[in-house]
Amino acid sequence: MDTLKARYLAAVANAADEAGLEEVRVGALGKKGEISGLMAGLGKMEPEARKAAGASLNALKDEIDAALRARKVALGDAALDERLKTEWLDVTLPGRPRPRGTIHPVSQVMEELTAIFADMGFSVAEGPQVESDWYNFDALNIPPEHPARQEHDTFFMHRAEGDNRPPHVLRTHTSPVQIRAMMDQGAPIRVIAPGRVYRMDMDQTHTPMFHQVEGMAIDRNISMANLKWTLEEFCRAFFEVDKVELRFRASHFPFTEPSAEVDIRYSNVGGQLKIGEGDKWMEILGSGMMHPKVLAAGGIDPDQWQGFAFGMGIDRIAMLKYGIPDLRAFFEADLRWLRHYGFSALDVPDLAGGLSA
Ligand code: PHE
Repeated sequence: MDTLKARYLAAVANAADEAGLEEVRVGALGKKGEISGLMAGLGKMEPEARKAAGASLNALKDEIDAALRARKVALGDAALDERLKTEWLDVTLPGRPRPRGTIHPVSQVMEELTAIFADMGFSVAEGPQVESDWYNFDALNIPPEHPARQEHDTFFMHRAEGDNRPPHVLRTHTSPVQIRAMMDQGAPIRVIAPGRVYRMDMDQTHTPMFHQVEGMAIDRNISMANLKWTLEEFCRAFFEVDKVELRFRASHFPFTEPSAEVDIRYSNVGGQLKIGEGDKWMEILGSGMMHPKVLAAGGIDPDQWQGFAFGMGIDRIAMLKYGIPDLRAFFEADLRWLRHYGFSALDVPDLAGGLSA
């Protein structure tokens, strides 16, 4: 009995893993195991001998059983330790950076200028980019044979065969929103209308799609002086410089009378544009007092009301503010390029827990 015990306890202690331990268990206590066999033999014994042998066999069985359990727990701990050694995670490692977009300069500039005009009491109006020729031209005092129609390098939409109505156009300026806003809201009114406009034009300073912001203020006594103050105030706030110099040049638009084009002073030193200094002028907008026919087309009585309007090139003022020399680079912008000009992603926490640059 003692040899049996010594043998099995040694076998349990030597089992290298749970599979080896299970082999020892089956060999001793399994249905056909050695100890089980001995216990089965008890039945053929004399009652006296059976009592003694039974007691010690049971004790042996319990002892082996206990040793098996203890060893199993020990082996389990060891296996866990082994796994922990190989399967660890370094939670202090930095996350893998993912490339992140940024707000496009045009969108950023639209937000900036909207905020500035909002401070001056202007709200935002909108109109469609595919516009009827009436809103884009006729209502703005540009009748069908007017030369200004040619000057606009218009993109025309197709009409179905046999449909002889004049084709819709891709709006060539944001001025049709003047008409829509007047019809929607009446007078007095103060709105801006930022958005995309289209002209068949492509060179270093022109792209077929570009952005304008229309401005319009109508009241009883609005004058050119109000227009001038509004534009100067806007430029100071937008360009964040005290010294902004604007030049009003007499001009002509069919929808304003009198009309002025406005240039802003800037310098270009080694491709870096700067506002408020230098000897260069960049045209940034067209403006004037709204033509009585335009007020009337918008349903507003020109004998009671008057107003100013302007249309400003957003891409132009964005280039000036951020010192970007080439309009084409502007639209083909990639992230490296945008970062170069100081455009960075918003500080949005990402899943890795970091903050974007
Ligand atoms: N619509 C004109 C253009 O695109 C600009 C403008 C707007 C001029 C409003 C006067 C008044 O050139």
